[in-house]
Amino acid sequence: MELPIIEPFKTKMVEQIYRSTREQRVKWINEASFNLFNLRSEQVTIDLLTDSGTGAMSDRQWSAMMLGDESYAGASSYYNLKNAIKEITGFNYFLPTHQGRAAENVLFSTLVKEGDIVPGNSHFDTTKGHIEFRKAIPVDCTVDIASDLTALNPFKGNVDLDKLEVVLKSNAREKIPLIIVTITNNTAGGQPVSMANIRGIHDLATRYGVRFFLDSARFAENAWFIKTREDGYSGKSIREIVLEMFSYTDGMTMSSKKDAIVNMGGFIGFRDEELFRQASAYNIIYEGFITYGGMSGRDMNALAQGLNEGTDYEFLTSRIGQVAYLGSLMKEYGIPIIEPAGGHAIFIDSKSFLPQIPDEEFPGQVLATELYIEGGIRSTEIGALMADRDPLTRANRFSGKELVRLAVPRRVYTDNHIRYVAATARNVYEKRDLIKKGFRIKREAPILRHFTIELERV
Ligand code: F0G
Repeated sequence: MELPIIEPFKTKMVEQIYRSTREQRVKWINEASFNLFNLRSEQVTIDLLTDSGTGAMSDRQWSAMMLGDESYAGASSYYNLKNAIKEITGFNYFLPTHQGRAAENVLFSTLVKEGDIVPGNSHFDTTKGHIEFRKAIPVDCTVDIASDLTALNPFKGNVDLDKLEVVLKSNAREKIPLIIVTITNNTAGGQPVSMANIRGIHDLATRYGVRFFLDSARFAENAWFIKTREDGYSGKSIREIVLEMFSYTDGMTMSSKKDAIVNMGGFIGFRDEELFRQASAYNIIYEGFITYGGMSGRDMNALAQGLNEGTDYEFLTSRIGQVAYLGSLMKEYGIPIIEPAGGHAIFIDSKSFLPQIPDEEFPGQVLATELYIEGGIRSTEIGALMADRDPLTRANRFSGKELVRLAVPRRVYTDNHIRYVAATARNVYEKRDLIKKGFRIKREAPILRHFTIELERV
């Protein structure tokens, strides 16, 4: 019998999980105005709010931290990180930043101006925010199949090359400072982008003379999907696949808080020295000198080590396997989820789960609240609350999709915790007909309202 792939780590230090009663949780979520961001972490049993910055570092990362060199310029930690980035991504030039959105800020300050167009695949919120903040326009060229929540397509994160070509063809070259493609595609359900697609984008970008960057927060998970789903890649190592993915691009933005398994950090990788030089000026203004850019030496050391661990095939198999396990239990219980399971998260389709709740009463938030009350699970609504109001009409933006994301932190929870999460969802599903009403908004901020919104029951 073939032995299963196991987690390539064991536990050395543990952190307490907080238990609570249903009565306590009902009280707390009321006090939090039904906004899960307002809960204290001690009020949460299993925290699936995000997989970002919530991973568990290894003993090697912690010991690398002790060797951190805190010199302002030219620290050895900077060179450790530079070497790791060069080895894993192939980029000769890089700038450290304090997290992913800071990398976007520095890169887009260098490249994007008012009226520009930035095509991509379901740009992540902060990416979109940084483009729109500069009065430029993000154009979503994701494949149509991505909006079919249960279509079993292996690469639902892909860019539709025809849509992309239309954008490239119908706009002046100077209007398109870059194409930015997110791997994996978080907004579309943690779905991967194939190598063939990345190559196709590269060919178009070359033909039209436009730069091509990858938003790489989950690049290692994307490589794992290429290895396991795309013809011709099963015999290649994750590292070979990662190098090939980046070889087709001009650079990358990185939130190191995901696949590099650190609690804080980011960077930008560049192929072109001149662009790196231009961006360096913004890095110094916004982040810090180019050899630390918002990171301490110890954090750069931990990141260098984390890049190595995060690209380990056995680790990725167990990590993505755990997310898939959560998905398979949900399916077994009849719960409607986005399929195939994403790399970092399971997305529940709240409109199918709670068809009795109209969009105007925010079914995603209703379901997230019920999962909390039932089992102390913290998830996020990815629906109308997060989509904000239309900047001009101020109407709620109902996209037809109301999702709840259960994002699984790396190396943190056991499969038993996963079973607990699935059982919680099953209990809510069995009682779903008893849920009659949703929420109305009591107070909201003009933008990014979901972080601070206050709600009340209808
Ligand atoms: N790009 C993607 C694809 C992301 O998922 C995120 C963050 C960022 C960029 C920004 O990085 O947080 O380091 O500034 N995603 C987190 C999430 C917040 O929960 O999905 P950051």
